[in-house]
Amino acid sequence: EELHQRSYLSDGEMKTWNGSIHEVYSPICIQTADGLKRKLIGTYPVCTEKEANEALEAAVKAYNNGRGQWPTMSVAQRIECVEKFVKRMLEQKEMVAKLIMWEIGKSWSDSVKEFDRTVEYIYATIDALKDLDRDSSRFTIEQGIAAQIRRSPLGVVLCMGPFNYPLNETFTTLIPAIIMGNTLLFKPPKHGTLLHYPLLEAFRECFPKGVVNTIYGRGHTIVPSLMQSGKVNVLTLIGSSKVANELKKLHPKVNRLRAILGLDAKNAAVITKNADLKLAVQETVLGSLSFNGQRCTALKIVFVHRSLAEQFTQQLSEAVGTLKFGMPWESGVMLTPLPEPHKPAYLQECIDDALQHGAKVMNENGGKQYESFVYPAVLYPVNDKMKLYREEQFGPLIPVVPFDDIDEPIQYLIDSTHGQQVSLFSNDTTELASLIDPLVNQVSRVNINCQCQRGPDVFPFTGRKDSAEGTLSVVDALRSFSIRSLVAAKLTDENRR
Ligand code: G3H
Repeated sequence: EELHQRSYLSDGEMKTWNGSIHEVYSPICIQTADGLKRKLIGTYPVCTEKEANEALEAAVKAYNNGRGQWPTMSVAQRIECVEKFVKRMLEQKEMVAKLIMWEIGKSWSDSVKEFDRTVEYIYATIDALKDLDRDSSRFTIEQGIAAQIRRSPLGVVLCMGPFNYPLNETFTTLIPAIIMGNTLLFKPPKHGTLLHYPLLEAFRECFPKGVVNTIYGRGHTIVPSLMQSGKVNVLTLIGSSKVANELKKLHPKVNRLRAILGLDAKNAAVITKNADLKLAVQETVLGSLSFNGQRCTALKIVFVHRSLAEQFTQQLSEAVGTLKFGMPWESGVMLTPLPEPHKPAYLQECIDDALQHGAKVMNENGGKQYESFVYPAVLYPVNDKMKLYREEQFGPLIPVVPFDDIDEPIQYLIDSTHGQQVSLFSNDTTELASLIDPLVNQVSRVNINCQCQRGPDVFPFTGRKDSAEGTLSVVDALRSFSIRSLVAAKLTDENRR
């Protein structure tokens, strides 16, 4: 069944769209008269700058310089609206999960997990806000001044999520942003737009007019003018640092813009000579290839001590060979079609470049392509002349670099423009202890003997250098989308009593 949408949510209304539309093709191919082709699954409006700016105006009006109904509403009332929304959202579970699967090719079980994780995240956010709010209802008395320390909203938020977690990562910014009293304009990712449609009506019903506005269209035509208007107070984007930097520069008062960003990463595994090889192989497979390596937290380069390198790549190649490749609805499938049409050609370019500079594809069928499928490739030995050494491939390629001295991977991280996470493998506790500080001073999370990941969602999620700005997580996101403010009064003899 195809989903053809002709509306968008602006200023509390589902507005009808009569202009041009975008056709959405699934990465899942079907047999046609011209051979296998990506299946058409729906269409959505390609709004112009005009509709985007009207939707932004609606958010500005609803915020009304902090005097609007939403930013002045009590925390308890805002929580009530979000609770109502999440109940409505649960009614759409099947439909949203199906659309995740068809739009981005995520396996059915992971699509359902993405939905469930999002609902859990919303409930955890509500609980965390209740705790924060409890703190802000206390008075602190210092030097004769009584103060109530609160968290106040920041204004109008422009929110853009990524294609790989189109529901979950979008909502890890959208929900904390609104629950803290901000108003919002949301543009769904290009791959991962249709799946938001079943939720629009719930947004409209559960929040006051103008608090949540959703616009569809081509990001590069509508988003720049939103930034140029100077009316966006917070930019939140999970995507590339290039796009984030370009957008920030367009804001006329960039020093007044808060940016909460989850960006590029090139997370490394560092496998020392004291590592448990079997465990390192297992975790590298999961870390590099879950959802075909299309995670910002995926392992994107593996450094392995030369004494273990041959054995490691052999075992890794064998393990890759056991992974199930197939359609997203098949049970136990790990490798599925890739949603970005340009990706197979780009991955082939990375492989060719690595081969040209002396690497080999170590596993059978490594890198083979079939329509939107790309079979994972283990490349070895990778060196600094290759694209794969520095570029974030965001796909199923595992570059393996042998090292002699532990300073080599550490120097790699120091020189890197990225700084999200590292996975460190060693069974020697003295060695581990000596490496943790040098590593954690380069990246924002060091994982010992396990793959990199974002969760559990209560943990802070951020990155150094070009990998992030601001911190997300259940509690940190509430802080990121608000400012600490106080209401203070001098104590007199009368009010002291
Ligand atoms: O794409 C980046 C996501 O934050 C990855 O999240 O580690 O839970 O898969 P995850």
